[in-house]
Amino acid sequence: MLPRFLRPTITIATQNGAKQLSTSSQRNAKVAVMGASGGIGQPLSLLLKQSPLVTELSLYDVVNTPGVAADLSHINTASKVTGFTGPDELKQSLKGVQVVVIPAGVPRKPGMSRDDLFNTNASIVRDLAQAVAEVAPKAFVAIISNPVNSTVPIASEVFQKAGVYDPNRIFGVTTLDIVRANAFIGEAKGLDPQKVSVPVIGGHSGITIIPLISQATPSVSFPQDQLKALTERIQEAGTEVVKAKAGTGSATLSMAYAGARFAFSLIRALNGESNVVECSYVRSNVTEAKYFSTPVVLGKNGVEKNLGLGKLSDFESKLLAAAIPELKKNIQKGEDFINKK
Ligand code: 2OP
Repeated sequence: MLPRFLRPTITIATQNGAKQLSTSSQRNAKVAVMGASGGIGQPLSLLLKQSPLVTELSLYDVVNTPGVAADLSHINTASKVTGFTGPDELKQSLKGVQVVVIPAGVPRKPGMSRDDLFNTNASIVRDLAQAVAEVAPKAFVAIISNPVNSTVPIASEVFQKAGVYDPNRIFGVTTLDIVRANAFIGEAKGLDPQKVSVPVIGGHSGITIIPLISQATPSVSFPQDQLKALTERIQEAGTEVVKAKAGTGSATLSMAYAGARFAFSLIRALNGESNVVECSYVRSNVTEAKYFSTPVVLGKNGVEKNLGLGKLSDFESKLLAAAIPELKKNIQKGEDFINKK
């Protein structure tokens, strides 16, 4: 059976799991995938193509998009797939889109941090954001390209410079951290991982990833040494995949799953569903860091309400304190990239 979020009924992702709703209010969306031929882009496009929530799929990349588009277009689902290749077709790929998902860029190799990708991926995200700001300034923009802690500030600065910035519409996708936390905790406790919901806050790299296991549903508890080990595993899970892939890249399939879940939540919010909640790295005044991931309520205009930190355990408060200086540094680096030219 297809995972719950791919089934043709509307599903609301909530902190407490998912509820099935009727399809009567469905109004579907045109989605663009920027970096559609890449390791994340291809499986992400496949998941989007399978969903009745997507009416049109616009696939952009610098190479190989005609092949990916032709391949996907043979799947007998209703959405129309079009491929666009290279800078000359970039703006055309964004016409009329409501949701833009950006996985474009290079992945890590063993020994690299996400920040090591900055030099290559920063300009890729800047150029894509410039095109989105011009052609689809009202679209929801979901950024997967690493380092997310810096690429979200980069896109935000680009939108600001273009005079079209709406902080409620630009999202860093941290969903894979939640997906991983749910999987690892489900495994540790013998629970169905689809029924586990763990908020993960902060950013999307190393110590900036802060799983709030004390707020998990169903409620779980671990001895301190296990809690520490689980927390560190969630923080370093991306690196676990990078090592296992031994030089061929980083997480692509699980990231595609997570990116698709996030995109579907955005579309459901656009469709007017209530109680659509996802953790996302957004402009924030919850902490001292200008961008910070917390659970947010999504609505027709993007972030409707930031649900904040909730009650943290002492252990989680210490994780938060350790994350903030690193996050601030990552954010500054992104902003400087646009402003110090
Ligand atoms: C990860 O967490 C690729 O950043 C991605 O694995």
